[in-house]
Amino acid sequence: MVTAPDIPGLNLDWLNVDTEQGMTAEPGRSGMTLQQINQSMYGADDFDEVRNRVMVPRGSAPDPRSAIHARQYHYKGDVWSESAMLLYEEAQQRQWASAEDIPWHEVKELPDDLEMAMCTLCTFLTQVEFIAGDIPGRFLEQVPADFFEAQLFLGTQVMDEARHQDVFRKRIFVNGGGMSEAGFGAVALLAIDDFTEMTAVLHLFAEGLVQSLFRMGELISQNDAEKRMFRLSAQDESRHLAFGVTHVKYVVENEPWRKEELHAHLDLQERVAAQSQQASLTTNPLTGEALAILAGGGIEHMDEGYKMVMQMRRKQMVEYSHRLKVVGLDRSERMAPELRELLGDVA
Ligand SMILES: [Fe+2]
Ligand SMILES: [Fe+2]
Repeated sequence: MVTAPDIPGLNLDWLNVDTEQGMTAEPGRSGMTLQQINQSMYGADDFDEVRNRVMVPRGSAPDPRSAIHARQYHYKGDVWSESAMLLYEEAQQRQWASAEDIPWHEVKELPDDLEMAMCTLCTFLTQVEFIAGDIPGRFLEQVPADFFEAQLFLGTQVMDEARHQDVFRKRIFVNGGGMSEAGFGAVALLAIDDFTEMTAVLHLFAEGLVQSLFRMGELISQNDAEKRMFRLSAQDESRHLAFGVTHVKYVVENEPWRKEELHAHLDLQERVAAQSQQASLTTNPLTGEALAILAGGGIEHMDEGYKMVMQMRRKQMVEYSHRLKVVGLDRSERMAPELRELLGDVA
């Protein structure tokens, strides 16, 4: 309790504001992270619904004049992900820049088919990354301040996707190639209207496919610059997947009545993926051919390349299936048959 001097014209009531005081925090192994300061009433451990529907930072005392933010969610389960806080800190620590962290001078002249294939793959990826940033960006304002960690994480994701878009765009122009055909598919994802739907469709499903694609990209890279471009991007995608897995798991465990809704979102996405010409890979048939040329080492070895593409598709489904197990959604009976087939005995 602070004894405020009685000075005419000053209002020093805030010296005795009704919030928790007296907490101290020490830097941990990774410095002064959010984990170090999320203590006592300033954490988000013991409440499931926003404590104030007005725009106030978690733990502060709401000014009675504060306005309600009508577009925000009210429940923890709407946006919460147990890993958001740590993933946000990790994203801060592992930022990279395509301007300087990619050894661009390692990109050397390539035969036309390989150059064109890489540029076609990268054209597709710039489209993918544009959408991957756009979707979470639309939900930033809907995260209530009581659960701000989810908003901070989404901010890092938007930055990651911007970097992915720019690194693939740069690769298109550094070695005599150019943009390829694009524009088909994936825009349907922009119709997503709910945070959990977004997370199930984007983080749990679509970005998982993209991450496997990046891992294959690293294997079929023609030089160290491309390898690094795919490796660093895959590292960022791991965080996006982790956010999605922990959010959906939270919803499945705390709001089990939403399970059927989650299944319905995935039913739809799996069907779209299965019906696309390159089942489970992309909605763009050019990309599968480009991958096969890169994997085979040239247009004359595309058959060999396709074997590797098939292995990647299988891996995409094995990893998706693993994520489903972790979140507690059993889709063994309802996965789209074309995708299930790729799993073989693993299903
Ligand atoms: Fe990305
Ligand atoms: Fe991503």
